[in-house]
Amino acid sequence: DIRGVIFDLDGVLTDTAEYHYLAWQQLADEEGIPFNRQANEPLRGISRRASLMMILGNRQYSEAEIEEMMERKNNYYIELIQTISPKDLLPGAIALLDELRQNGIKTAIGSASKNARMVVERLGIADQVDAIADGYSVQQPKPAPDLFLYAANQLKLAPQQCVVFEDAAAGIEAALAAKMWTVGLGPSERVGSAHIVLPSLAGVKWAELQAKLSDVSR
Ligand code: G6P
Ligand code: MG
Repeated sequence: DIRGVIFDLDGVLTDTAEYHYLAWQQLADEEGIPFNRQANEPLRGISRRASLMMILGNRQYSEAEIEEMMERKNNYYIELIQTISPKDLLPGAIALLDELRQNGIKTAIGSASKNARMVVERLGIADQVDAIADGYSVQQPKPAPDLFLYAANQLKLAPQQCVVFEDAAAGIEAALAAKMWTVGLGPSERVGSAHIVLPSLAGVKWAELQAKLSDVSR
């Protein structure tokens, strides 16, 4: 029986994925490194350092330069998320959070971002979630299962009792490695390995989702 839902944040509850992209684009432009939306695709859901490494490719930089660039990107990102408000919750997010609460299902955020708490507070949903696992919670980033296992532990649930909503390939991989149920949001080229793939949270009903999950588990 599913007793808990773990939501990735960026690209699932709100569209901060776009802000991460814009911040990386600005950094790449300043460094004269070719980068675009398509090159950003594999960066979805992966850590700040791993993202920068993919952008830098085989260009050589010192650790000090790498840290400066991570900080610069983060400053651009923090600037971009200042304007976030409850209006920035993606369609269906609040309805689902409410429905889960009414059904006694526990909820957590499972985001690799060190800025997750700030975003959750600006979105006005801090009181609607039972736990937050963020970029400070574990060492190993997604696709390792650690972050989701940490979240389940916070909810006092076994992995098999949890379903993870993710928009990123690395996130689905992490949730599957944690032996959790998975709902991929977005194109199947990205999240096709999830148990269920949906375009977005819009119109998602807990009862229907539970039925679909018990179908695939048969
Ligand atoms: C999430 C986002 C990634 C981001 C990572 C780290 O997983 O999807 O795009 O790189 O968090 O975020 P941070 O805010 O700590 O740089
Ligand atoms: Mg995401």
